[in-house]
Parts: sequence; structure tokens; C-alpha cells
Amino acid sequence: MCGISAIASHKPVAKLLLKSLQNLEYRGYDSCGMALFDDQEIKLRKNIGNVNEVNSIERFEEMTGHLGIAHTRWATHGGVTPENSHPHFSSDNNFVIVHNGIFSNYQVIKASLQAKGHQFRSQTDTEVFANLLQEEYSICQDVETAFCNALNKLEGSYAIAMLSVFQPDTIFAVKKDSPLVLGINDGVNFVSSDMNAFISETRDTVLINDYEYVTMTNDAFQVKSLSDNLTISKQIIHVQWDRETAQRGGFSHYMLKEIFDQPQTVRQTLHISAQEIETIAKKFIDKPQSFCVGVGTTYYVAMIGTYLFSKYADLYVPSISADEFPTLIPVNADQHVLFFSQSGETYDTRMAIRAATQAGAATSAVVNVVGSSISQEVDDCIFQGSGPEICVVSTKAALSQIVILWQIALRVGVLRNHLTEEQAESHRKRLFDFSGLVEKMINEESGFIRDLAKNTSHVRNWLFMGRGIFYPIALESALKMKEVTYVHAEGLPAGFLKHGTLAMVDENMYSLFFLPSRGDSELFHATLMAIEEVKARNGKVIAFCTQDDTEVQRLLDHYFVIPETEPEMTPLVEMVIAQLFSYYSALNLGLNIDKPRNLAKSVTVG
Ligand code: F6R
Repeated sequence: MCGISAIASHKPVAKLLLKSLQNLEYRGYDSCGMALFDDQEIKLRKNIGNVNEVNSIERFEEMTGHLGIAHTRWATHGGVTPENSHPHFSSDNNFVIVHNGIFSNYQVIKASLQAKGHQFRSQTDTEVFANLLQEEYSICQDVETAFCNALNKLEGSYAIAMLSVFQPDTIFAVKKDSPLVLGINDGVNFVSSDMNAFISETRDTVLINDYEYVTMTNDAFQVKSLSDNLTISKQIIHVQWDRETAQRGGFSHYMLKEIFDQPQTVRQTLHISAQEIETIAKKFIDKPQSFCVGVGTTYYVAMIGTYLFSKYADLYVPSISADEFPTLIPVNADQHVLFFSQSGETYDTRMAIRAATQAGAATSAVVNVVGSSISQEVDDCIFQGSGPEICVVSTKAALSQIVILWQIALRVGVLRNHLTEEQAESHRKRLFDFSGLVEKMINEESGFIRDLAKNTSHVRNWLFMGRGIFYPIALESALKMKEVTYVHAEGLPAGFLKHGTLAMVDENMYSLFFLPSRGDSELFHATLMAIEEVKARNGKVIAFCTQDDTEVQRLLDHYFVIPETEPEMTPLVEMVIAQLFSYYSALNLGLNIDKPRNLAKSVTVG
């Protein structure tokens, strides 16, 4: 995920900015750069590679100036090139910005700016904001007003830091759906994506909320509301973290941090441009047959896709595990295959792509790593921009892929006249609401989930069950449990239970049921029947239900409380709770959570 950093100091700032870039390296990136105000103008240096490599070419530490911005880029729009690296100048070089996030309406604004004669040097969405600033400044001649006016025209997610020659003692920064914090010290102030950037300089920090912007000099800062420009009073918080804890954002493991990153990464995917979604959606229309393909967790993502296409687009799109694809599918040029991969390097998925490409099928992919092999091997690729997953097991990348898939399925539904634009938009809005709900839920429910994991830490055999879309959610959750706890967890369709597996059930067998909301009446009652079947054999049952559903609770040995929400969001809510359940189960067992045995982050062998 991109990292931004900005420093205003009474002393030369280049070395400190360079250090902050090194401190942000752990977020994952492919290029970096710095811009400093120096001698009446802004000087900019940037390139591709890691911080040390770029520094050996660009000599960041030799730059001069007391005010600067810097960036580590994790590419989303535009390839990994020096031009696409940040910072980005406006056409007249009077404004320079760094940005983390996605401007979803950048293409429309870019076209209107080009019509007014603005030059673009990169393919990024970010550069649009720099030129929009220039444009707005030409109208109002005030940097702060131009900053706010430009922001009001852009949609999407952002954390931004900006410098302008017209107000050279001030750094401007703003946040919406991407992280931003301030660091406060004597004669030097910091803005960054996270406090890791400045933790060796100061532990005094100010947290910035969405739609708040900052004006900061070396000895003062002000936080204001983007809606009314009024000053917001802020508390300075003193944090006690060491550097390693700071890298994990204060969490005890990366897995937990990445689970907590999800509200943000989900929002990020909701800002992916309509055009990118459209390109892939059209392939489902153009080709008579499509497939969804992934392996491991991404196979379960693909399976979820099968249910989404069926529901929203009235289209059967089979999902196939990439390792089986080349031998199973008689692939041909009338087909389209949508692949999923976090790393973009998975051998089995690459072999499936090769089989599809050789047969002349259309290919597309959703991938987290720009420049990865898979992203280059398919015809079209959406980069999910979820930032690196440092924990070996996949959490935030998988959930974000599901949300992208959801948007593709909705669009295919519209193109097939199964949904109206309005219906698709109201479903999409639910995904936005879901990101807020997850945020609230993981903060409020974690303690309860941890207690339940403790109460079940003796369990060595689990059945994870669900029906409909809850079935792939059960499979994915069982995989998570196995990966981090090494405890046996078998995922199966709840309707399948009575066809054999019920023989295993006695008082020592624990079953976790992914119970739908009551609003999903048919699935709810069908799943409840399976719960009754297990209870009748004295099996232990845990399930998901709402706080007030005492009728269901009476049947259960334990339960996870799910918030009241739209029934269609319940599978995703339960998936996130199950991630936390696996995490806390592994924590109780004292295991190496971020590096489970026998697992690699990128499986590049067959
Ligand atoms: C599970 C997990 C693996 C990967 C699988 C595919 O937590 O991480 O099952 O999902 O190896 O990897 P990618 O998504 O990189 O293709």
C-alpha cells in the first residue's frame, strides 16, 4: 500500500524524509520519490526500485530545503515507471502532491483538464489532482481555497500531502478512506500514512479523520473540516510503541492488522473505476461461456463468484480450482476466464492461464501485485490495491477480491437486463455500508470472539458448514482455521451432512454453522435443519445469529453475535468473524501466526 510522508522543519529535512521513506518500506512498494521546496521552487526526484536503490541514483540526502513531501508507491493506475512514481507536479510545477488511494472519477476530470491545455506526464489518477489544483488556484489565487475546491470535485479514497510555491512554509494534507496521522515535535512536524514513518523522532501524534484537512508549518498545525472549513480541536496522543509494534500498526500480529485493514481495503476496491469493472463485465457478455478460477483461498473467492453471478446476473459461471483447470476444462476461443490471485505469481493459476490463452480464450484477472506475472499474462487486469499481505495467510486480499467480484457481477446483471442501474447501485451502496459495519464490528466484537476461541481451544475436529453462498464462506473459513491452528476443520455444504458426514457426529464433534440472516428465509431454515440434525446426535454447535434471536440461541452451545444488516451482507460479515476466530484460536495455541508451518506466501511451484 502506498506510504506518504511530509515534514516541515526549522532545519534541512532531506535526511529525515529519506529515513521516513525507509520506515514506510514495510508497507510494500515499487518506486519512491521526494519533493522539497528549495530556493523559490520545488525540486523533485523519483524513480523505480527500493529506497536504497533509488537513493543511490537520485541522491535524496543531497536535496536541500526545510519542507518536503515523500512517497512509496504501490502501483494501481499505470505501470511501475519513473513517470508514474510520486510526487506529481502540476503542469506549471507550482504544486506537487503525493497520494495514497484511488480517485474514481479521474478520467472525466483528466479529459476536461486536457481540453483546457493541461499536460500530463504520467498515467496516474494522482496527477489529475495536481493539475486540478493549478486550475482552481488560477481562479481563486488562494492555496487553501484551491485545495478544498479541487478536493470537492474528486471522488474516491485519498490521503494526500501537498506543497505549493505560493505558500512555501505550509504542508497541506487531507484524508478520506485512507490513513493519515500527524507527528508533533519541537520545531518539526510530520504528516504520514502511519506513525511508523516518524516513530524514531516523536511519539506525540494526532489522528486525522475522514473529510478533515491539515495545514502544517514547522511550529504549528491546524485541522479543519472539509465541509465548512472550521477548525477542529485535536488531542495530542502520546504512544508507547516500539518500532516493530509500530510497523504492525500496534497489533500483535500482521494477521490481526490485516483483518483490521479490511474496512479500508474494501472501500479502496469500491473506488475502482466503473470503466475497469465494465471492461471485464463485458467479457461475460461477449463470450458465451465464462469461468472463475483461483486456487486455495482464491478458488473460494471464485466459488463465491459463481453464487454472485447466479444471483445478480442470472448467469451460471462455473468456478474451477486452477490446479484442475488445465485437465478438466476443454477450453476454447468462445470462452472467457476470470482469474484471481493475490500474489500474481501462483504456478497453478499461471498454468491455467497458459491453457486458456493457448486455446484462444479471453482472459482477465483480479490481482494485488502490479507488475506480477499473472497481471501481464492476461488480456485485462484489475489491480485491487489492497497493499501487501505480510501474514502468509490471506485475509484482506481475499475479502477485497470478493467485493470487486460483487461489482463485476452487478454490472453483468445490468448488461444482461437482469438488474436495473438503480437496483445495481443500491446493491453497491450496501457494500459501502458493509465496510462501515465491519469497522464497527471488529472493534466491538473482538473480545467476545477471543473468549469463544479460548473456550474451544481444546477442539481438534471441526465441521464448518453453510448453504448457498455460505458454503464457499465455510470452505474459506475452514481453510483459514487449518492454516493457522493446524487443527482439522472440514468445510462442507450443510445440506450434504446427512449424506454421510453425520456418522462422525457425537458429543466430541464441534460444528460451526454459517447461518444466514432470518431475512434469507429459505436458506436460514434449511441451515437450521442441519443444526437440528447435529444437535439430535449430541454434537456441539456454534453458529452466527443476531443478539435478539433467542430462539436460535437456545439450540446452540455457543454463538457469534452478528449485527443487524442487509441479509446479502451477512456472508461477508461471518467471513470476517471467522478470520478473527481462527486468529484467536491460533493465539491460544501459541503458534507462529504470521508464518504458519508448511505455507508460503507465493506458491510458484507445481
Ligand atoms: C490462504 C492462502 C492461499 C492462497 C493461494 C493462492 O490463506 O493464502 O491459499 O490463496 O496460494 O495464492 P494467490 O492468491 O497469491 O494466487
